Amino acid sequence: MKLARRISEVRPSATLSINAKAQELRRRGVKIINFAVGEPDFHTPVHVKQMAIQAVIRNQTRYTPASGMQELKEAVCRWVESYYGLQYNTSNVLISCGGKHALYNVFQAILDPGDEVFIPAPYWVSYPDMVVLAGGVPLIVSMSFENNYKLTPEVLKSTINQNTKAIILNSPSNPTGVYYSEEELKELAEVLKGYPDLWIISDDIYSHMLFNGAKWTNIVVVEPSFRDRTVIIHGVSKSYAMTGWRIGFAVGSEELIKAASKIQSQSTSNPCSIAQWASLAALMGDQSDVDRMAKSFESRCAYVTHRLRSIPGIRFVEPQGAFYIFPDVSAFYGKSYGHKVVNDSLSMADYLMDEAHIAVVPGIAFGDDRCIRLSYALSMKDLEEGCNRLESALRALK
Ligand SMILES: Cc1ncc(COP(=O)(O)O)c(C=O)c1O
Repeated sequence: MKLARRISEVRPSATLSINAKAQELRRRGVKIINFAVGEPDFHTPVHVKQMAIQAVIRNQTRYTPASGMQELKEAVCRWVESYYGLQYNTSNVLISCGGKHALYNVFQAILDPGDEVFIPAPYWVSYPDMVVLAGGVPLIVSMSFENNYKLTPEVLKSTINQNTKAIILNSPSNPTGVYYSEEELKELAEVLKGYPDLWIISDDIYSHMLFNGAKWTNIVVVEPSFRDRTVIIHGVSKSYAMTGWRIGFAVGSEELIKAASKIQSQSTSNPCSIAQWASLAALMGDQSDVDRMAKSFESRCAYVTHRLRSIPGIRFVEPQGAFYIFPDVSAFYGKSYGHKVVNDSLSMADYLMDEAHIAVVPGIAFGDDRCIRLSYALSMKDLEEGCNRLESALRALK
């Protein structure tokens, strides 16, 4: 039997083999330090969980409108207004099953076969494959370490072309943790003004996790004239430690939201009603957990950067947000330990798993084979142990 061609065009998740190996080792009783996680290690706030319980008791368990409950859309509008200072109506909001699903619907709604999507690399793993699934072509453009992996107006100007239909901006970034300042976004906006038909996708999912007083903003805030061609992707997964609840949202022009909602209505229908009520409590309730998590990631980031700095051969761009760091370990390529040779990010991840029992994600999954991604959403005890193991394993490579 023949499967669709698009299946062979989509890459399987690069983390699958690492996870399978980690599971196998755990089954054998080995303690793995898991630097590969992509979620906060905190619990969902209590008032959010209580709201979900109440929703069940109140029998709020039926279908909601396919694009999400009106109450939650109103909460998203209020939250966006208080956080971004931008006013939207509920017709500008689509509630989906996670930020990933919101993005998926948006790509399906804007891309025709052959349309290019400008993706600065390193990028979040799912962008290129979601573009391909929508018939588009990822235009992957590598950013330089020297410029902190950030897109510059010069690179943007020289790469963008008439086939480019959309661009993705992700600040702070998964996997690098770098973010764009107001000034930098203004400079990019100047170039983007020359391409009025280009969609801008602003993936702001980590916006609440910024360190050392950094001031977060996004492209629509700095350039309000982009409002109708920018779609904001956000959600409760990261900010409120709600990755399993699967609620994210897209905020954009009525035309785009209507189109993306149509896609959603013929695929998943509404996201879980109980999770929607819980998300309303997250957005409207006490925000102190959000600040507490951000502060905690800030101090863990400081610890990990301090440790990595003392390992000769590693270089990295200092993260300013999210909970990832993306060290360049290519100075170790070509070296070996026993019969194991490390020559790319996959063999490095394999080596670290086998010899140090630490799980990391190979940088190739994010479009940069020189690096590995470490998540520091771990307890201080595990971070310390993990950094010790990483340091010993790298030093052992000759
Ligand atoms: C950059 C980025 N965008 C979007 C998402 C999607 O988040 P979710 O679908 O869990 O809400 C993630 C999750 O890892 C991410 O890292």
